[in-house]
Amino acid sequence: ASTGRATRHERYDDKPLAARLVNSIYPLHMGTYWGLPGRIAMALSSAALLLFAVTGWWMYVDRRRTGAQVREERARLASTVSGGAAAGAVPVLLAFATQTGHAERIVLRTAAALQAAGVATDVRPLAEQAADDLRQRRHLLLVASTFGDGDPPDAAHGVIERLANDVGPGGLPHLRYGLLALGDVHFATFCGYGRALRHLMQGLGAQPLFPMIEVDDGDPEALARWTRELGRAFAVELDPSTHHPDDEPAFETWRLVRRTLLNPGSHGEALFEVELRRDDPSAADWAPGALAEVRPPSPSTGTPALPRRYSVASLPQDGCVQLLVRQVRLDGGLGLASGWLTDRAPLGAEIDLRLRPNPAFALVEDDVPCVFIGNGSGYGGLRGHLRERVRRGRGRNWLIHGERHAAHDDFAATELAAWEAAGAIAHADRVFSRDLPTRRYVQDRIREAGESLRRWIDDGGVVYVCGSLAGMAPAVDLALREVLGSATVDDLLAGNRYRRDIY
Ligand SMILES: Cc1cc2nc3c(=O)[nH]c(=O)nc-3n(C[C@H](O)[C@H](O)[C@H](O)COP(=O)(O)OP(=O)(O)OC[C@H]3O[C@@H](n4cnc5c(N)ncnc54)[C@H](O)[C@@H]3O)c2cc1C
Ligand SMILES: Cc1cc2nc3c(=O)[nH]c(=O)nc-3n(C[C@H](O)[C@H](O)[C@H](O)COP(=O)(O)O)c2cc1C
Repeated sequence: ASTGRATRHERYDDKPLAARLVNSIYPLHMGTYWGLPGRIAMALSSAALLLFAVTGWWMYVDRRRTGAQVREERARLASTVSGGAAAGAVPVLLAFATQTGHAERIVLRTAAALQAAGVATDVRPLAEQAADDLRQRRHLLLVASTFGDGDPPDAAHGVIERLANDVGPGGLPHLRYGLLALGDVHFATFCGYGRALRHLMQGLGAQPLFPMIEVDDGDPEALARWTRELGRAFAVELDPSTHHPDDEPAFETWRLVRRTLLNPGSHGEALFEVELRRDDPSAADWAPGALAEVRPPSPSTGTPALPRRYSVASLPQDGCVQLLVRQVRLDGGLGLASGWLTDRAPLGAEIDLRLRPNPAFALVEDDVPCVFIGNGSGYGGLRGHLRERVRRGRGRNWLIHGERHAAHDDFAATELAAWEAAGAIAHADRVFSRDLPTRRYVQDRIREAGESLRRWIDDGGVVYVCGSLAGMAPAVDLALREVLGSATVDDLLAGNRYRRDIY
């Protein structure tokens, strides 16, 4: 029983260094050491730490420079952060893996909401996450989409293997995590990458804060659940409208001014160049590689249907948005959006459209060689980049584009011939799959040209791929791995030198 009598006397000087440090924390906090001046100095340096968290965040966002939307998010986050987060707590880490930008936007908004509620946060791409830093954390929030065929987004390629290796089995027993997996149920492996991350976390011994939340095509109910679960996990009140769909940029009214059939007589489906203008052309701006989201009216009700995405094939300097749209044929007629743009909408019709940056397919700033590979309507996304490179006077461009027959499908011939004559493009390889008795595709051209391709990559080249997810993109990936070596292709992915817009 307790008698109140001292049974042991421990001298500070006799303690090991670690114990002395621990013993110093309380008097440091209470200002016992240096009186009032000490307390003021401590308060100022704590405030500076908070400032570093905010300025560090700004530097990170500046480096990303993914356009106006991110700048908007930054402004919002900066305005919410002034409430201050609990000093001394290990910030909650938010890591994202994204291909087309949704996961990053969700993370930015989640961080802003948590900061506003007084929870300190750090944000970074999952690809930049180090194992050592993870070991220091108590809370990790992961937001990750799935790309390709159940695969990680390009920039996150190899991250699971690296972290599993660097951390080791059961290496994160103190970590609690929340996982938001973005996907689309129309794909065979729904949320495949999110599920792989959950498996990784289990293997590392981390504990879930709540069961993984899967989001089908931006489902607002699933996003609201994410906000609710986080509020519960951190015992804070979070704004329930954090991820409200109305928060997305509004659709603008564009006018359909031209559509041209590019492949008359083709054995494939009709491909159109669709041109749209705004009444005030200066009101529109986008970076090469951007996506246009088009919202067609539903034929039965006339109300807006879900938006479809198209790669922008023109530059703001062209004064219009041009899209290359393949007509999709279904049993009962044409696809909703492709049919609207290429057939049902009359010329002059108002089209609901909004432009979105596509960071994973952005044009490289440096004057490095660029190899542009694609098929069919994928020429659209590549053309935006080619036009910008030509405009900037950067001539080390190599196009490898696949279509069916030279006689009907060589729709880019005139433009490419002019660029070749002007020395604005080094090679414009068109590969026609059905002109010869044996089929020939872009991946065959890659294999033939392996040696030149290796040279372009050795010179710092960047590879762009745009077009079919089924068939072309995996076959191109395989051919690149054959001629460059798998390790080089992985390095290209990790170094953001292999950029894809595939669908
Ligand atoms: C990042 C990205 C970039 C893209 N860029 C381009 C581009 O530059 N050019 C381009 O042409 N396309 C592009 N696409 C594809 C485009 O977004 C649309 O998916 C495409 O135009 C088809 O849309 P739709 O509304 O015409 O067809 P939908 O009506 O959506 O039909 C598409 C598919 O849904 C299924 N489906 C729908 N209704 C039925 C039904 N009643 N019965 C059976 N099956 C049905 C079918 O599988 C059909 O093939 C891109 C896609 C992405 C994700
Ligand atoms: C080319 C492509 C492949 C995709 N593959 C899958 C898939 O295999 N499984 C899945 O659930 N979702 C898949 N999706 C859907 C995306 O994961 C979903 O649209 C997500 O919201 C994108 O988020 P992000 O913008 O952060 O990349 C795919 C989307 C695209 C464009």
